[in-house]
Amino acid sequence: MNPTYRTIDYNSADDCELLARWYNDRSSRHLHILFTSAENAAEIFTPEHFQRMGQGFSAESTRHDLMVLVDGVPAGEARIEMDPPKLLTKRPNTAWIYLMIADPNFRRRGLGTRIIDDLESLAVDAGAERIEAGIFEYNAPSLSFFIRRGYTEFQRRLNRIWWNGRMWNEVRLLKTL
Ligand SMILES: CC(C)(COP(=O)(O)OP(=O)(O)OC[C@H]1O[C@@H](n2cnc3c(N)ncnc32)[C@H](O)[C@@H]1OP(=O)(O)O)[C@@H](O)C(=O)NCCC(=O)NCCS
Repeated sequence: MNPTYRTIDYNSADDCELLARWYNDRSSRHLHILFTSAENAAEIFTPEHFQRMGQGFSAESTRHDLMVLVDGVPAGEARIEMDPPKLLTKRPNTAWIYLMIADPNFRRRGLGTRIIDDLESLAVDAGAERIEAGIFEYNAPSLSFFIRRGYTEFQRRLNRIWWNGRMWNEVRLLKTL
């Protein structure tokens, strides 16, 4: 599978509706959305939520939100940011990445590997010397995926995520480029 990318258009009803559908998918949303309480985890995402989010980005934002396309059809979301405040690595020139393949039928077929290779190339182009990512400790497939790509755990944020009746840790991973 050969992914292509375009910038997510938060002014587009189609993009916002698609994101709302993906973020409301009960089978996978706990894998990529950081909920902090039961109330929070019950939240239903609306297309307007994403529209408002897009309007909130400042002109100085280093955040690139990408729609992943397979054969021209949206298959997931990928993101890269340079030196955002959420990094635990307080060293300049650190990128943060995130990826999510929405359709389970597209997972475990090498697509994530292609996307992460592309995100790492973008990070190098942006001057990154390392990449940080955050994975929820119950997301074993994703942890395996990142470790296989050369990421190593450097910190755990305790009791950060609410899922399945209790709080879980977030695992922070790092790769030197
Ligand atoms: C995590 C994710 C991006 C991986 O993408 P993918 O296309 O499924 O991964 P790949 O097919 O490229 O797998 C590469 C390697 O990662 C590991 N891996 C991937 N999925 C795995 C799984 N379900 N179980 C165990 N290992 C897994 C394997 O080592 C795999 O190599 P192999 O298939 O030769 O054994 C994808 O499963 C996904 O989007 N999941 C839901 C959202 C999410 O968890 N995002 C990450 C956190 S924000």
